[in-house]
Amino acid sequence: MLSKDEIDKVSLYNFSSEGELLSEINHLIEVFNLDRDQITDVYKSRKSVSAYLYYFYVTNLPRVKQAIERLTDVLDDSPVIEFGAGPGTLPMALKDHKNAFYLIENSSLMQESGRAVLKEYAPKVNFQYFKTSIDVPILKDPVLCFTNSFNELDSHDFWELIDQLKPGKIIFIEPGTKEVFHRLLEVRGKLQSKEYKVTYPCSSQVACPLEGTEDWCHQYLKLVHDPSIERLTQKLKRNRRMVPLCLHLFEKEASGAHQAILFSRPEVRKYGFDLRICEGNEIKKYRVLKKLETYDKKRISALLPGEVLSFQLLKNDQIEINWS
Ligand SMILES: C[S@@+](CC[C@H](N)C(=O)[O-])C[C@H]1O[C@@H](n2cnc3c(N)ncnc32)[C@H](O)[C@@H]1O
Repeated sequence: MLSKDEIDKVSLYNFSSEGELLSEINHLIEVFNLDRDQITDVYKSRKSVSAYLYYFYVTNLPRVKQAIERLTDVLDDSPVIEFGAGPGTLPMALKDHKNAFYLIENSSLMQESGRAVLKEYAPKVNFQYFKTSIDVPILKDPVLCFTNSFNELDSHDFWELIDQLKPGKIIFIEPGTKEVFHRLLEVRGKLQSKEYKVTYPCSSQVACPLEGTEDWCHQYLKLVHDPSIERLTQKLKRNRRMVPLCLHLFEKEASGAHQAILFSRPEVRKYGFDLRICEGNEIKKYRVLKKLETYDKKRISALLPGEVLSFQLLKNDQIEINWS
């Protein structure tokens, strides 16, 4: 969690007032959401790259951190490549890990920002920036991560990147939108034909039950930001506390562990809770009854869509959750 004062220390541009900063952040929001043709200009401006740091980076950081924490056991000591690394969001989120980070980032200003941030707040991280993937040395089974950057690659460049880097694992930590999810579904099928297995959030390799529907896999995170950043997001009238997410993991050598994903928020009933759980090819409805030993109202209410649940099937549609 970084504060506004901490960003002041590493920003490439001194905003003369909060008004100037808010107006530049609003400009960035517009470019990202509506006017994506202007994106390359944004990454060439010191003012825009600094505004990115004050808002997108500081709020992305806890999101990326919480998401990757669900998957840290797959990182081991593997080299980690972050595509579209920006100011080094992933190495900052994993600053207590010993992995070497290879950051692909074609904006010199983003690289400058990242070097400043990591030097100040994560000086022990082992990282190197590269302008293109071609400059990255040949690595054995690297983990390739996309963090809010999948959108910036067209399909042809995406597959070229996969063929060139030959990652052992691919992690997507992307915005939780219908569009990103459906693009990921397309990629999922083709990655499976290249012998990757989808091991998070899915529990099997069969076709996703959401294929051909308008719905998407709802994964959420609850985030806490520094109060100075909360103030900023309130002024921008944005909610960066309860954020939808697309977190997907593909592996060449999968452990095959069985898991099931909570599909929507638990619904309170007189008898306990109804839970909709995706089991691979089907979204099933289960009940957790009040009288069960593992019934824990607070913990069940706090469950968010996208969380992995371990449970035992009792009879009919009744389950008992294994809290570990
Ligand atoms: C939305 S930012 C995400 C930054 C960071 N990963 C984060 O989560 O905050 C996307 C980044 O991808 C970079 N980028 C876009 N296309 C690229 C390409 N073809 N090669 C390298 N970097 C690229 C941009 O310069 C930008 O810094």
